[in-house]
Amino acid sequence: MARTRHYVMCRPDYFTVKYAINPWMDPSTDTDRDLAIRQWEKLKAVYEDLGHTVSLIDPIEGLPDMVFAANGALVVDGKVYGARFRHPQRAPEADAYLAWFAERGFPVTPAEHVNEGEGDFVVTDEVVLAGTGFRTDVGAHHEAQELFGRPVVTLRLVDPRFYHLDTALFTLDGRTVAYYPEAFSPGSREVLRRLFPDAVLATAADAQALGLNAVSDGKNVIINSEAADLQLELKRRGFDPIPVDMSELRKSGGGPKCCTLEIRR
Ligand code: ARG
Repeated sequence: MARTRHYVMCRPDYFTVKYAINPWMDPSTDTDRDLAIRQWEKLKAVYEDLGHTVSLIDPIEGLPDMVFAANGALVVDGKVYGARFRHPQRAPEADAYLAWFAERGFPVTPAEHVNEGEGDFVVTDEVVLAGTGFRTDVGAHHEAQELFGRPVVTLRLVDPRFYHLDTALFTLDGRTVAYYPEAFSPGSREVLRRLFPDAVLATAADAQALGLNAVSDGKNVIINSEAADLQLELKRRGFDPIPVDMSELRKSGGGPKCCTLEIRR
């Protein structure tokens, strides 16, 4: 069943790839900012056509990755846990997102530990799944558990192409998830098997297309168009995949989910 969502997005007005902090990024590749903006506008229109609300945060010149709003914070039960970026190139984004929420009356908690917001936290009905290995520190998992009073389950990422949890796993409806098993350590794979015995398992091709960087409202799944196997499997399970082309933003290692920060009341 679809549930209406509230998202925050940031227009890629200053998008470019001028540093490399993940294997997708190559500063010698040309980027087309107008194309990135068109792809992003399309994504926003898809959300709005589905009845979701999209709020915007102003992009800041010199912060090319600020378009990846998912990394800006984690919002659960109306409480905002701030980000603290691993790499100095993105560090100023944390305050910008925290200020945005504070100005709108949300209770905000700045992070003590390194964490990249919803990029490394996936909220399900029972638990919050939390990635570590590349960006977010385990200390942040504990911090989030204390703040939200929800059990946080640590998952270890092992493939540098899937450096954020949201590049390797997404939740379909709060109850179950889709993921790429090879992105996780053996122990974490076993944890996922126990927690989600009926999960959708993605293929290597789906993962390479950043197909796990998808956004589901419980029924509609906004997903990179190239993730063909995964779309078929989602249809078989009764979901409605809505393919989007995010090829330009993928040059920075991002897809639809990275561009989307959910406000959970
Ligand atoms: N270039 C950005 C980085 O490496 C991409 C972030 C993608 N965001 C995400 N939620 N996976 O930090």
